[in-house]
Amino acid sequence: GLVPVSDLLKAAEAGGYAVGAFNCNNMEIVQAIAQAAEAEKAPVIMQASQGAIKYAGIEYITAMANTAAAMVSVPVALHLDHGTSFEQVMRCIRSGFSSVMIDGSKHPLDENIALTRQVIAAARPVGVSVEAELGKIGGTEDDISVSNADAFFTDPEEARRFVQETAVDSLAIAIGTAHGRYKGVPKLDFARLEKIRSLVQIPIVLHGSSGVPGEAIQEAIRLGVRKVNIDTNIREAFVDRCREVIAANPDEIDPRKILGPAREAAVELIREKIRLFGSSGKA
Ligand code: G3H
Ligand code: 13P
Ligand code: ZN
Ligand code: NA
Repeated sequence: GLVPVSDLLKAAEAGGYAVGAFNCNNMEIVQAIAQAAEAEKAPVIMQASQGAIKYAGIEYITAMANTAAAMVSVPVALHLDHGTSFEQVMRCIRSGFSSVMIDGSKHPLDENIALTRQVIAAARPVGVSVEAELGKIGGTEDDISVSNADAFFTDPEEARRFVQETAVDSLAIAIGTAHGRYKGVPKLDFARLEKIRSLVQIPIVLHGSSGVPGEAIQEAIRLGVRKVNIDTNIREAFVDRCREVIAANPDEIDPRKILGPAREAAVELIREKIRLFGSSGKA
């Protein structure tokens, strides 16, 4: 069955590595994540955003993730990515998600704390782990649009208070990453991460990790990041390969001849990320 993200991050904490959290919204990407994790003997997190759930249907997402987990030997978690309401979180828990994110980062601190506490009160008794977010990560999120100028980094003292008052399982922080593609090379605020880490004892989550140089990802992991979110790089690998196949075979009408190679490209990309995060061989 599906395992809570918190179990995977506890092991990652003990082992000094990070678990990859890969966004999925169709069967081929679910299969690619499972195949890559199995090939690398790595624990893995499949995550679905509210947009992914709207696209595929919540029943399909949970059924595909459960089937994938049953077919591999490695532990698999199914996590809600950027849940924005208590109701959305409840739908996911009822449907079988093993972990949820409640993203209250657009709210004032006290409201974010209250919302996160409400989610934890419902999730923890049924064994579902909870990720929260503090600070504003750049880029576009479901129901959350943050312009670059409006993106605020996580305040370490607020992080300490947030974790103390919520007892949340893991915390997503803003230290210079952004969702989607970067225009230049992102510069991460490692001093801030180090400060947060000294005040907060729980696993840290890095969002917007596509496009961040490998050395920066590894430095972040050295400083306490235990979950690394990747979506955009999977989309690029998948759709670039679709384009290549169609360009080379303009008359191709069999979806399998296009989506099969795209799935293969996603497997290769995800395997590389798993090795970068140090979780290869940890299952
Ligand atoms: O953080 C956002 C993820 O990349 C999901 O994106 O809302 O377009 O599914 P999405
Ligand atoms: P990227 O699309 O930049 O990889 O971000 C993914 C993410 O943070 C999902 O929550
Ligand atoms: Zn994110
Ligand atoms: Na990114």
